[in-house]
Amino acid sequence: MIETLTRLDDLRTRVASWKREGLRVGFVPTMGNLHAGHFSLVELARRLAQRVVVSVFVNPTQFGPGEDFDRYPRTPEADAAGLAAAGADAVWMPALDTMYPHGASAAVQVRVPGITGVLEGEHRPGHFDGVATVVARLLNQVQPDVAVFGRKDYQQLAVIRYLVRDLAMPVRIEAGATLREADGLAMSSRNQYLTPDQRPVAAEIHRTLAWMRQATQAGTPTADVEADARRQLHDAGFDVDYAVLRTPQLEVPGDAAGPRVALIAARLGATRLIDNLEFDVQSAQAVPGPRRAGAGP
Ligand code: PAJ
Repeated sequence: MIETLTRLDDLRTRVASWKREGLRVGFVPTMGNLHAGHFSLVELARRLAQRVVVSVFVNPTQFGPGEDFDRYPRTPEADAAGLAAAGADAVWMPALDTMYPHGASAAVQVRVPGITGVLEGEHRPGHFDGVATVVARLLNQVQPDVAVFGRKDYQQLAVIRYLVRDLAMPVRIEAGATLREADGLAMSSRNQYLTPDQRPVAAEIHRTLAWMRQATQAGTPTADVEADARRQLHDAGFDVDYAVLRTPQLEVPGDAAGPRVALIAARLGATRLIDNLEFDVQSAQAVPGPRRAGAGP
């Protein structure tokens, strides 16, 4: 039986009683309009904890002016039914004034420095302040033992790890893999904004990420990979915000072998999509050396 909670007192009482019983509490924060990607995070949380709380809150402070806050799809009944089927124990659906008792514009803000200044942070100024501000609140409200986030939002995951470590928040952060449609398009609540004509084109993002991995592993210089990726996306009809290769810390990679992540943010009409792909580069592959005389067939 799933319980929908809207009052902070009720949430606190429920979680405290589970903890008194010695049950570990898992938490999956969402903005609702749930899809299989979200449900896969719920399943991961169920493997890591005995009780799972999922929050559904469309957070106004992480949307910029002119972004899609007003039209963001809100489907609370379907979300609760899906979460019951996925095995969540409680849905936390706070009203705006429960989340922001002094109002959103007078809220205490949490700002993560450094990594929030690039990529998404550069193209959506203030976005990560809103994310950090609401996630800090959600973690204080729910007080889970473990919280699960998706790798789909790669930079968001890095921001949250930084936040939790820096503020010594007593919670473990775990990451779930990105769930995709059959053609590779990462599942997202925003995919439903796509027109029937745009929908097949959207899969080009994942194909370009896979191409970036293959080209990098074949030794193509980073600058060439990035320029070609931009061109491929542009030719397919996208306005490209970025198509880059980075280290896992989101720094510009050097020549050394090691882990990489390719990240893309691009717009098809009014719909902005993001995705990423993690992979490794081996130095032997990265720079094919000259053939030795007499070697080989
Ligand atoms: P939302 O976009 O609803 O995503 C909720 C969680 O689901 C995030 O951790 C996100 O990375 C993950 N997710 C989204 N698409 C996924 C996919 N295809 N496969 C696996 N996981 C996926 O991210 C947010 O909400 C908000 O910023 C939030 C953290 C709730 C703060 O408001």
